[in-house]
Amino acid sequence: MAAAMLKPATIALALVASLAGARAQEPDAADLAAGLRLFRAKANCQACHGWAADGRKMDSQMPDGANLRETQLDRKQIVTTIQCGRPGAGMPAYDRLAYSDGRCHGMKSADLAKAGLTLTDPPATLAAREIELVADFLLAKVVGKGPMNRARCVEYWGGDVDVCKALAQ
Ligand code: HEC
Repeated sequence: MAAAMLKPATIALALVASLAGARAQEPDAADLAAGLRLFRAKANCQACHGWAADGRKMDSQMPDGANLRETQLDRKQIVTTIQCGRPGAGMPAYDRLAYSDGRCHGMKSADLAKAGLTLTDPPATLAAREIELVADFLLAKVVGKGPMNRARCVEYWGGDVDVCKALAQ
């Protein structure tokens, strides 16, 4: 892709990735940017997990999501959690067919109902590839990266926006 076609944020991500000496398996900068966009906009994970994914959200009406910066889950478990949600615990299932054919924990909607587990509606459903993009974004930028600070905030938003100014260096 020609550099002229890339948005500044994408170029910044690419620089960060190359400075960090990206491993072979690592998603490229465009994938990470797509994952971040899904997290913030379409999938609206931030409504419950907060924009920094640390569980501190802006809208107190939404359920309290886990602190994803400190999650112990591996990639497969994160993918499954996004796909299948956590019935009865407020985490929505993003796979449109999650409890239709047993693909999630071998359970169908009727099994959830029988067990008295309610499933939270997701803001939008995601395709399998989109779920992987979100998971890879989280693993590259969020999980185990420590608390959000000013430098990480500026990188995350692509500029020194107001929410970053309130954070410690
Ligand atoms: C409606 C609120 C809500 C939304 C939207 C939401 N979550 Fe969650 N999420 C939760 C809650 C609540 C939990 C804690 C569930 C529990 O106690 O087991 C959770 C748990 C998780 C976990 C498990 C963490 C752990 O360590 O066990 C992951 C991973 C996760 N969410 C990722 C996401 C991602 C990625 C998105 C967007 C695609 C998202 N969530 C959207 C509410 C939400």
